[in-house]
Amino acid sequence: MSNTRKGRQKYYNIFSHFYDLFIKIHSHNYGEETRKFLVDSARLAKKNHPRVLDICCGTGSVALAFAQKHPEVQSIGYDFAIGMLHKAKEKDRSGRTQFINGDAARLSFADNSFDVVCCSHALYELKNEVRTAALLEMKRVVKPDGLVLIMEHEVPRRRLIKFLFYIRMLSMGLKDAQEFVHQGIMPFKKIFTHVTLSHSQSGKSKLIICSKT
Ligand SMILES: C[S@@+](CC[C@H](N)C(=O)[O-])C[C@H]1O[C@@H](n2cnc3c(N)ncnc32)[C@H](O)[C@@H]1O
Repeated sequence: MSNTRKGRQKYYNIFSHFYDLFIKIHSHNYGEETRKFLVDSARLAKKNHPRVLDICCGTGSVALAFAQKHPEVQSIGYDFAIGMLHKAKEKDRSGRTQFINGDAARLSFADNSFDVVCCSHALYELKNEVRTAALLEMKRVVKPDGLVLIMEHEVPRRRLIKFLFYIRMLSMGLKDAQEFVHQGIMPFKKIFTHVTLSHSQSGKSKLIICSKT
């Protein structure tokens, strides 16, 4: 792993201590609404013992939301920052969700093994080459009839929040993040066969729904 990647891991390990509080303030409590939107879009109701993988899961809110909504689901959260995974495990009262440490650019799972692979509010923070590798890996591990769901922030409208959003992107590499935000669904169309875009009711987040067949 490169020194930059190790530096980022350290940053996220420190961030894990106040991540949930930061998100609560940043999202004005819209987190629950956007997670519900993502989980409902997964269309798991008719699947038998579905498997869901949440890449860059952070403190596990999305992986846990899947487990809560679908008692028969096998939900796995995957992240390269141990600190984030510790927080996720603390939040998992039922102990049903698995949290695995690893890099999004190299997933330790078999081809075609998940009904849903998702990534929430994290892709824009990845360097271009890592992001492309991660998307290719998501495509590899999702089943042919499965879905890859990518949730991203809309660029905030309120000036202060917009400023904080860009400051955060700056710390991640402004050029790559800006390119990603402004390219819309183009990076996904280059990789997946079908790509659609929808928006959460509050307008805080957008969801890119991708499939490979
Ligand atoms: C902004 S947080 C998003 C967390 C969570 N998905 C959510 O919606 O709250 C970004 C997460 O991506 C993880 N991450 C960043 N680069 C990664 C990589 N290359 N492989 C795995 N996880 C990574 C970080 O550790 C962090 O937990």
